[in-house]
Amino acid sequence: MNYAILGGGRMGSALVRGMIASGITTGDRVTISSRTVESAQKSAVALGANAATSNADALRLAEVVFLCVKPAQSLEVVSSLTRELSGKLLISIVAGIRSADLLAAADGGIRVIRSIPNTAVRLRKGVTAIAPDSSSTAEDLEIARQIFSSVGTTFEVSEGELDIVTAVSGSGPAFALLMLEALAQGGIDGGLDAAIAKSFAAGALSAAAALVQETGETPLALRAEITSPGGTTQAGLGVLEESNFTGIVRGAVRAARDRSIELSSKSPKA
Ligand SMILES: NC(=O)c1ccc[n+]([C@@H]2O[C@H](COP(=O)([O-])OP(=O)(O)OC[C@H]3O[C@@H](n4cnc5c(N)ncnc54)[C@H](OP(=O)(O)O)[C@@H]3O)[C@@H](O)[C@H]2O)c1
Repeated sequence: MNYAILGGGRMGSALVRGMIASGITTGDRVTISSRTVESAQKSAVALGANAATSNADALRLAEVVFLCVKPAQSLEVVSSLTRELSGKLLISIVAGIRSADLLAAADGGIRVIRSIPNTAVRLRKGVTAIAPDSSSTAEDLEIARQIFSSVGTTFEVSEGELDIVTAVSGSGPAFALLMLEALAQGGIDGGLDAAIAKSFAAGALSAAAALVQETGETPLALRAEITSPGGTTQAGLGVLEESNFTGIVRGAVRAARDRSIELSSKSPKA
């Protein structure tokens, strides 16, 4: 299988890095295009893949095409490649741009699967939601599942669920990173060296995630195990609860979901 990556930026590169590291493909089967040839070359050299001189050039040998540009560019890129994309499977990782709009932009000649990976695909620890469109086949879905499984965990969802998935899983790592920064800053405030504070904070967040994933217990039950009555954790949690921490985070998820909905309703072909 040959792959084209339209948009070799952060997510496009993260995906290619993970795919090559997993052994599902090799760099010589991946061709990257970007807005400029220089930028495509820079990404390709860093990843050990091929650089294309244009988007059309990237598509020449590809059976599977990943659309990894920003939402604002995505329909323009697809509509400029109607002929070259014809008959190919287009896997879009673009937030907020609907399959129907991608199909319309391509004049219908493609098969579309939408996905929302997160940045951890570069470490092969990603979580990807896959939403097949009626234009795609069961075989296409299996191809997408295999690719994203090579770089982490996959879940099949309906396209209607992608806005909320984008908020929780696509934007979620940024919310967790803000928590990590705040936790580290608390350590620095208490006299720890910055690098040590960051390591402890990262360890705390990865411990929480690993406990949930590996024990199968609920976050609430696991939290109860760490929280002794009248102890240090309870003192800290009390401050978070008084400040409506849960409500604030839920508000952030709603705002990210609403923005995803807004992006899809603003797309030119919507
Ligand atoms: N970040 C996340 O965690 C996340 C999660 C899920 C989905 N996504 C989606 O991933 C997509 C990419 O995000 P990103 O963070 O990787 O953005 P990014 O780093 O800005 O990368 C965008 C890439 O698109 C290229 N590009 C721009 N115009 C182009 C054109 N006309 N033809 C070909 N390539 C073009 C850019 O090229 P230059 O380098 O030459 O400018 C750049 O390489 C977005 O649609 C986003 O919704 C992101």
